[in-house]
Amino acid sequence: MSIVEEIARLKREKNAVILVHNYQRPEVQDIADFLGDSLGLAKKAAKTDAQIIVFCGVQFMAETAKILSPDKGVLLPRKEAGCPMADMITREELKALKEKYPEAKVISYVNTNADVKAESDVCCTSANAKEVVKNIDAERVIFTPDKNLAAYCQRFVNKEIIPWNGFCYVHERITKEEVLLAKERFPDALLLVHPECNPSVIDLADEVLSTSGMVSFAKESDKKRFLIGTEEGLIYRLKKENPGKEFYTAGTAKICRNMKLTTLNDVYLALKEERYAIELPEGIIKSAQRALEAMLKYV
Ligand code: 13P
Ligand code: SF4
Repeated sequence: MSIVEEIARLKREKNAVILVHNYQRPEVQDIADFLGDSLGLAKKAAKTDAQIIVFCGVQFMAETAKILSPDKGVLLPRKEAGCPMADMITREELKALKEKYPEAKVISYVNTNADVKAESDVCCTSANAKEVVKNIDAERVIFTPDKNLAAYCQRFVNKEIIPWNGFCYVHERITKEEVLLAKERFPDALLLVHPECNPSVIDLADEVLSTSGMVSFAKESDKKRFLIGTEEGLIYRLKKENPGKEFYTAGTAKICRNMKLTTLNDVYLALKEERYAIELPEGIIKSAQRALEAMLKYV
């Protein structure tokens, strides 16, 4: 039996579902029951009937699944697959900021650790950050941890956004200069970028979208050629789902090492040995659940 067949057998036997982020390796994307962005994956995790969720992504995504479905087993096939941006703010640092601005409400990007979510009023993802910022009932907002997403949201509101100084090392490497060169090379291409990019890159974009937002946009667009300003894993999905269209990285390919750790063999072992189970303290689950459920009301 091939490893893909073994995975399918174990999945049936254990009533498991495989959720996969858009940046994962192509062969892992191919075995997904659901492939998506952070928001889509959180929504799936909240309403699956399966007993076990195998999460092919990074730690904060698997934690989000656990918080939304605490009675299910949530497995992260590589326990060291973290998100460096999520580790850029601690609960203590957020508490200190809240003391400094007691009247402010806290929006935390879903790319945070569970205890930071527990200290937040509401979470957001790249797909709904703009809406969450617009709709939150506060004139002053603490936004953690991504300074670029905070600056992007600030473009749409008169509220005061107090950003944390975090960033994504992958999107940070996309430079204005290389994007301009790519645009020169493909002048007829539409430029789609992720809101974790620097403001100077966002200024050049035709559309600023989450990863699944890029997938939907490319599918519906009449255009044939696209420059993609995000982690290179998404290009595999874009090409596979749009055989008549062309997709190029906006500059050199940028890779998230953490997203690429998970192999098919890791998924197989995760199912076989039920490893590595996400475990979180009950109090953290309860408080973080409130912030995540507040977020899930947004598209
Ligand atoms: P999306 O929610 O847009 O897929 O982004 C997740 C992420 O980690 C981006 O770096
Ligand atoms: Fe974290 Fe950036 Fe990797 Fe996304 S791409 S998981 S934000 S380091």
